[in-house]
Amino acid sequence: MPELTRSPGHSDSLSNLSDSELQTSFKWQEKRHLLDTSDLDPRDLDCVYAVASRLKQALLTGGQTVPQLPGRIIANVFYENSTRTRASFEMAAKRLGCDVLNLDTKVSSVTKGETIVDTARQLVCMNVSAIVQRHSAAGSAHLVARNFGDKVHVINAGDGWHAHPTQALLDYFTMREIRPNLKGAKVTIAGDVLHSRVARSNILTLKAAGASVHVCAPPTLLPGYLDTLEVTTHTRLEPAIEGADFIMALRIQLERQQQGLIPSLGEYRKLYRLDHARLRLAKPDVKVLHPGPVNRGVELSDELVDDPKISLIETQVANGVPVRMAVLYLLLAGGT
Ligand code: CP
Repeated sequence: MPELTRSPGHSDSLSNLSDSELQTSFKWQEKRHLLDTSDLDPRDLDCVYAVASRLKQALLTGGQTVPQLPGRIIANVFYENSTRTRASFEMAAKRLGCDVLNLDTKVSSVTKGETIVDTARQLVCMNVSAIVQRHSAAGSAHLVARNFGDKVHVINAGDGWHAHPTQALLDYFTMREIRPNLKGAKVTIAGDVLHSRVARSNILTLKAAGASVHVCAPPTLLPGYLDTLEVTTHTRLEPAIEGADFIMALRIQLERQQQGLIPSLGEYRKLYRLDHARLRLAKPDVKVLHPGPVNRGVELSDELVDDPKISLIETQVANGVPVRMAVLYLLLAGGT
């Protein structure tokens, strides 16, 4: 059974974890699931960072062995579309020596009315080790964990507007590569916050890391829960990005704009689109993130998306693999 220990045979790439990181890795094993970022503390985050950065290094250099989870089956169960999350979970699992089952929910028995719980039950019967699930209903991953959490690890790959924990962890990782200590960093999250599971998961993660979190959206796209999270809210972009170290733009979810929450895309562009001119208000070395997919020219100018000096968007995508490897390894290494 693979374990996070210093025993002989422990993979090279993780052999120099500190005692504290090693201790925290045992806490991850006890968690069993990753459903939300609300219960992650600074040590949990440090541990993910430490493991993911070693794995990234090992992948890049090829000089060190990557830990393996042989015999494990990771089931990707995506009821909603995905490019980045699903592909990087598949790559992460394969890099760890796992088998991957991509359930095609569009041709599965879900189309005949089978429930999320019964679908998960079939996979549990077939002895999968982990279910990575995305669904449009908030709480759907929790539901699977409540029913089968003693038999299978559950990772939330996005549930409605609620949470997307691995996205927040890879964003945190990407920011820490630039600024190793996020304490006091001004991070502005701007865009369609109301419909964004990424925003909520990032706010919780960044607060735990000690960042000063600012959130900006038109008044109709600011969710009520922000009042409880000790963030600074803005309805104008300029003060929100003034002096910012990092700005995370969020996608305007065009498919969810039927209720007229913004007057028009043209109006939104005029007031909220981030471009090089507006970025002059931020720190000179500001970096821009976006979880993707980007509506080019709406929340970010085309030129900014493709500016390698400022945009971290491609780095975020690349970091998805080692961060998801770290999450899979931390959750699964000690068990079956
Ligand atoms: N950021 C993100 O979740 O992208 P996908 O929808 O492509 O997985």
